Amino acid sequence: MKILVVGSGGREHALAWKLAQSDRIQMVYVAPGNGGTARDSRLQNLDITDLHELAGFVERENIALTVVGPETPLAGGIVNLFRARGLKVFGPTKEAAQLESSKDYAKAFMQRHGIPTAAYQTFSDLAPAHAYIDAQGAPIVIKADGLAAGKGVVVAMTLAEAHQAVDDMLADNRFGDAGARIVIEEFLAGEEASFIVMCDGKNVLPLATSQDHKRLKDHDQGPNTGGMGAYSPAAIVTPEMHARVMREIINPTIQGMAKDGIVFTGFLYAGLMIDAAGNPKTLEFNCRMGDPETQPIMSRLKTDLVSVMEHAVNGTLDAIELEWDRRTAVGVVLAADGYPDAPVKGAVIEGIPAETPESLTFHAGTREVAGQLQVSGGRVLCVVGLGDSVRMAQKQAYETVDQIRFEGMQLRRDIGWRGLKH
Ligand code: AMP
Ligand code: GLY
Repeated sequence: MKILVVGSGGREHALAWKLAQSDRIQMVYVAPGNGGTARDSRLQNLDITDLHELAGFVERENIALTVVGPETPLAGGIVNLFRARGLKVFGPTKEAAQLESSKDYAKAFMQRHGIPTAAYQTFSDLAPAHAYIDAQGAPIVIKADGLAAGKGVVVAMTLAEAHQAVDDMLADNRFGDAGARIVIEEFLAGEEASFIVMCDGKNVLPLATSQDHKRLKDHDQGPNTGGMGAYSPAAIVTPEMHARVMREIINPTIQGMAKDGIVFTGFLYAGLMIDAAGNPKTLEFNCRMGDPETQPIMSRLKTDLVSVMEHAVNGTLDAIELEWDRRTAVGVVLAADGYPDAPVKGAVIEGIPAETPESLTFHAGTREVAGQLQVSGGRVLCVVGLGDSVRMAQKQAYETVDQIRFEGMQLRRDIGWRGLKH
């Protein structure tokens, strides 16, 4: 069987790596892929990004199913297009993807269906936005409405920062159309967790829990990034918390979509904020897997991902159970010099050790140039270590990290720290 994975990040490398472990796989194509997927003999990169051309390739090559990694093709309607051509694809339609592609849509949806989230208002004019901030006070959170690659959120600790963020987005057009409307919302304190499920249109299958580390520097300091590391499982999501999130957030979301006339299929990722009293609220929805969460999650999945995906596209996720490695997986992102603002490309990457049962390296911003591996994006690699405790998984991950070299490499030394507390 042949499968196509759409995307080029660490998430897609991890998905393709896991799919390729199945005995039933003849080839996993990755479009467009990266330096790591290029080097793996079981994977083949495909230099196509146009969605119609991709559909044509899938038809010609008789590809059994397509798994879509990133939000951009989903928001662009890849699932609608593939289905219209009779092709099996796992992901949400363009309409369902609005849960991620418009913060205003997601907030109004949550309010309409009673899903716990921060209080908010949406603005497209400067004066009322500034007045709202003065009335609410700081800290307060300003979000560009549209997709901004994880950079459209400002958690303003002071009124001055909040007003500046409004000016940047609404007056200076810093995020283009994505920032032409903004959501201003209540600041929520607490601990974050990533809660990701698979939906086939009828059934919901939760994946292992995880936690991301959004800030660039140790102790959660520095600017927000797309994610500097993640680990799984996240102890804060106890079995009781898990049941509560399913009951109060995930199930009402799927049912709310259905009430609004939209069948949700694909990965649904609720970014949670759990307050000191243990109450979860939804910070955001993503309609895809998390990056870097996928890397530690896939490192722990024991079930054949090909059969999981088949059940997902055939509406039979109720017929499968997922089996997880009991160990903890800690994934440490190695980022380029200048990340997140202006990643420097071109540095030569050396010293990536071979995969072992305890240590894996997934590629993201890498490319092969004349047999050499080079930095080609902000988040370059994600090194995953597995161990019987968070501490042992960390030790394993950082032992591997310390063998890898490229100029200007940035990383956090504390991935998994919240897990050590629990
Ligand atoms: P988002 O893209 O909505 O997940 O926001 C990115 C990051 O900003 C989140 O992972 C949080 O760390 C932070 N954040 C977003 N919304 C809030 C909020 N209402 N209160 C506090 N922090 C937030
Ligand atoms: N790791 C956060 C995200 O994928 O949005």
